[in-house]
Amino acid sequence: MATVDLVLPHHRYPIQIGPGLLADLGKMVREAAPHNRATLIIDDKITETHGAAARSSLESAGFDPVAATMHAGEDHKTLATVEKLYHPMLDARLERKSPVVAVGGGIVGDTGGFVAASYLRGVPFVQCPTTLLAMVDASVGGKVGVNMPQGKNLIGAFHQPVLVVIDTDTLKTLPKRDFICGLAECIKHGVIRDPDLFDWIDQNADAILGLDSSALVELVERNVRIKAAVVMEDEKEAGVRAHLNFGHTFAHAIEAGTEYGKYLHGEAVSLGMVAAARLATDTGRCDAAVADKLTVLLSKVGLPTTAKDLPATSKLMDIMLSDKKVADGKVRLVLPDKLGAVSIVSDTPNDRVASAWDSLRS
Ligand SMILES: NC(=O)c1ccc[n+]([C@@H]2O[C@H](COP(=O)([O-])OP(=O)(O)OC[C@H]3O[C@@H](n4cnc5c(N)ncnc54)[C@H](O)[C@@H]3O)[C@@H](O)[C@H]2O)c1
Repeated sequence: MATVDLVLPHHRYPIQIGPGLLADLGKMVREAAPHNRATLIIDDKITETHGAAARSSLESAGFDPVAATMHAGEDHKTLATVEKLYHPMLDARLERKSPVVAVGGGIVGDTGGFVAASYLRGVPFVQCPTTLLAMVDASVGGKVGVNMPQGKNLIGAFHQPVLVVIDTDTLKTLPKRDFICGLAECIKHGVIRDPDLFDWIDQNADAILGLDSSALVELVERNVRIKAAVVMEDEKEAGVRAHLNFGHTFAHAIEAGTEYGKYLHGEAVSLGMVAAARLATDTGRCDAAVADKLTVLLSKVGLPTTAKDLPATSKLMDIMLSDKKVADGKVRLVLPDKLGAVSIVSDTPNDRVASAWDSLRS
């Protein structure tokens, strides 16, 4: 088992990582948020498996949890779901000290976290992420929230958990496509901060894709350390936390331009990182070898690096330019300087951005 401590000026919490950890969840929650009652919010696809393990561990530790389920999927990450989740908590008269424990992917973590942030003005929150993306990204850092018809993640809060419990065995039931999507965020971490991680993923791709237990623990731990370090430097995204958006401005345009139906988030991020790296080469920021190495590794793990049927470049540019990050008609992008270092760039000519889009089609 590995532990990463996330330390902020007014808050600190452990992120526990290891195979089979859900069995010890109850004991760990008891230490982090001692109370007899708890809310357990579970992704309804895993109620019988990981949800049941979490529940029985909480019960063995003396909790009497109020259990509720929700569907994953962006269209369930809503205020309507949040309201539905409040009812059993209110009916059971759960108090301010009763923790909310979320077991699932990023959808359940973000929604459950918003329930925890807002129920009685905030109760302790415990994350048990069960997708690779949620383990290495969404569960660490305290951003919680829901979508609105106007856009994703528009309503939310910063509500740091008191504990994160990552049972890497839960990845064994995750559909392969979702698992591979999580690898896009791991490779992203390598590009923005850690060339050794980038090379380690390359060298260990077979063990990772084969779900080798120790490779999974090392993968998750190394990535959690990076995400936690970024959050510790910049909790509220005033500076370096924006580096985590590498590839994401392109990805959001791909997702919106294809009505969120064709590409999973990690697949769109993969294409977005390729476009951003090529743009960095094209504008003289970094060596072409970075884009080449990145493209090779993404495709080695099964992520897309070309997309012949993307919407027209003019449509993708319009979406990008309507983004909240646009200033003076130019898109704000995170671009690599070299493997392991990125910068925020706001003066890229739009015709160069358009060429980066076009490069994904060949
Ligand atoms: N809060 C943050 O900082 C942050 C960061 C990145 C992403 N996010 C959010 O995360 C969300 C995406 O998260 P996600 O990719 O985990 O998606 P998800 O929660 O939809 O999970 C993906 C799929 O896997 C299923 N699933 C989950 N765990 C499983 C398991 N162990 N076995 C079998 N099936 C399982 C789910 O039911 C779902 O079908 C987005 O809404 C995004 O905005 C948040």
